[in-house]
This record gives sequence, C-alpha cells and structure tokens, in this order.
Amino acid sequence: MIWRRRYRRPVFLVALCFFSICSLIKFHQRLRGSPTAHKAYQPSWRDGSHPRRLGKNDPGEKELVVASLEGDEMGWLDVHFNTWRKNVYVVDNISAPLTVPVNKGKEAMPFLTYIINRYDSLPDVSIFIHSLRYQWHNEDAMYDGVPVLRRLRLEHVKRRGYVSLRCTWEKGCPAQLTPFHTSNRDDDRSRAEKAYASIFRRLFPHDEVPSVVGAHCSSQFAVSRGRIRSRPKKQYERIREWLLETDLSDQVSSRIMEYMWHIVFLMPAVDCQDAGECFCQTFGLCNLTCDREKCNKRYWLPKYTIMPEGWPDKGPGTNGWPERGWAD
Ligand SMILES: *[C@@H]1O[C@H](CO)[C@@H](O)[C@H](O)[C@H]1NC(C)=O
Ligand SMILES: *[C@@H]1O[C@H](CO)[C@@H](O)[C@H](O)[C@H]1NC(C)=O
Repeated sequence: MIWRRRYRRPVFLVALCFFSICSLIKFHQRLRGSPTAHKAYQPSWRDGSHPRRLGKNDPGEKELVVASLEGDEMGWLDVHFNTWRKNVYVVDNISAPLTVPVNKGKEAMPFLTYIINRYDSLPDVSIFIHSLRYQWHNEDAMYDGVPVLRRLRLEHVKRRGYVSLRCTWEKGCPAQLTPFHTSNRDDDRSRAEKAYASIFRRLFPHDEVPSVVGAHCSSQFAVSRGRIRSRPKKQYERIREWLLETDLSDQVSSRIMEYMWHIVFLMPAVDCQDAGECFCQTFGLCNLTCDREKCNKRYWLPKYTIMPEGWPDKGPGTNGWPERGWAD
C-alpha cells in the first residue's frame, strides 16, 4: 500500500514523458512523410540509412513499382539498381510483403494497388515495370531493361508528367483502338476495342469517350507525383473496383488498361510523340537517325513475342531475333 502511493507520482511522470516523446516522434515522421507511417509499404533499402541522408538521385526521388509472379528472376534489379527503392508486388502469393487483393488484370492490379496505398507518400517519380529483365517490348536493341531504366531522364518525367518507357511506334501508335468503329475480328485486341467505350464511360463519367486511342504498348511507364495526384484517389479506387468486378478475361481487361493509363494521367487520347524527340527527351539519345515512327538501330519488333529461353546467351540471330551487336 505504502510503496504504491509513494511510486504513483514518479510512475505517472515517466509514463507522461514516454507518451510525449512518442507523440513528438510520430508528428516528426508525419512531417517528413516517413514511409514507416504507411503500413502497406515495405521499405527495401538494406543498410538502414534514412532516405533523407541519401544523395539527390537516390531513393526518395524515384521508386520502382514491379509487377511480378512468384519465382520470377529479379536479381537484375538488385545488381543494377541496388540503391533504388523497389515495390515488388507478387500477384500470385498472398503471403508476399506486397501483393494484390485479387490476381486479376495482370499488371494493372498491382499498379493501381500501389497508387492507392501510396497516394499520400509518393516519390517524385514512380516507374512502373514488369519484373523480367529481357522482354520483347523493352525499348532496347537487345530488349534489355537495364539500359532503359539507366537512361530514363527523371527531370523529363517530372516536366512531362507521364512518359511511356517506349518511343518506337510499332505496337500501339498512331492508333490502337477506335471505340466507335470496332472491328468484328475474334481476338483480344477487338474485344478490348468493343468494351472500351462503355468502360470508359463508367470510369470517367464526366469525360468524353475518345474516338481514337493511340499510345505505346506495353504498360511500362513513369509518372510524376503531381500527375498521379491530378486525379483523386477515388478515381484509382473506382478503376480497381471495375477491375475486381469485370468478367472480361485478364488479356482483355489488362489491354484496356494498357491503352488507358496515358488518359488516366491526363495525356491526350493519342499520345504518340515523334520517335526521335522521344528518344532524346526520355532517354537522352539525341543523335539518332529517325523518322516520325522509329529510329535506326534502336528496336525491331520480333516475329515471335516470347523471348528465347536463355536470351541473350542463346537465341540471337535465330528465328527472326536480331544478332547480338546488330545496333553497334
Ligand atoms: C510467398 O511469400 C512468402 C513470403 O515472402 C514466402 O515465404 C513463400 O515461400 C512464398 N510462397 C510461395 C509458394 O512461393
Ligand atoms: C552524331 O552522329 C553523327 C553521324 O552519325 C556523328 O558523325 C557524330 O559524331 C555524332 N555525334 C555524337 C555527339 O555522338
């Protein structure tokens, strides 16, 4: 009895002190936009240093948002971009540190989930990519994702707001879909075209459905914080609700998103920049020989869209794939 009364005051003071310090730290973190304030976010830097102490081009300015499947080979990201912050969404593993509510709509679901969860703590530039290093749609002579990311000019992304990670018009430009003149072919492109207008009206009830949609394939892009926030968070939630509900196949729903992202990010419905200008502004490749749609020695659309197994050690020069060094 006696000790209790005697210690009540000091215990109270210690508790008060502790509470005040906690509140102060919390407040401070909120001011600095510390990622620890966001439960869904898993920081991926390893050395424990705070991003504020890092240099101008280090984490904080940019983050990768990676759409992946369990088991994808992603060592290349750590090897070549080890200081970049990465948000690796594993869509088919509900125990992964970052995942999606339902694995639907391919990369569209993790991309939307990132935007919704991170809406209030976005970096200057978010770079949305697919997990594998070599993919036929990478804007590189050997379809390699490393030079694409290395060369990406963040200052340009901040200025333009949105850039596709591709400049060549092959696939998607100058027109991919004409929502009011749909084709009757029985393929995914036509199914996406037919569904486009009604989905557009549902997602953007105040906007006019565009008569022509053109944008670079294939759902890899970089966006500034300001441009993402030009749309309210509700807009992204509405798109994700549609994606969760739709009966369309993943092939079709993801294709609709593939040709809607640029409009979501307030670019014109046909966003097909002059190829040479795009290579120069987006990637700093300013001395290429180009026409409006392509530049020499940059990219060619392969005949087969599945990368040969073992690329680039195996496969170059066979089956319509370019020889190694063809662009040197
Ligand atoms: C899913 O992710 C968890 C956490 O990263 C991991 O431990 C587990 O092995 C993964 N499951 C499969 C099937 O790979
Ligand atoms: C630009 O290209 C021209 C012709 O291909 C070449 O002569 C010149 O050296 C190049 N300049 C630079 C800076 O690479």
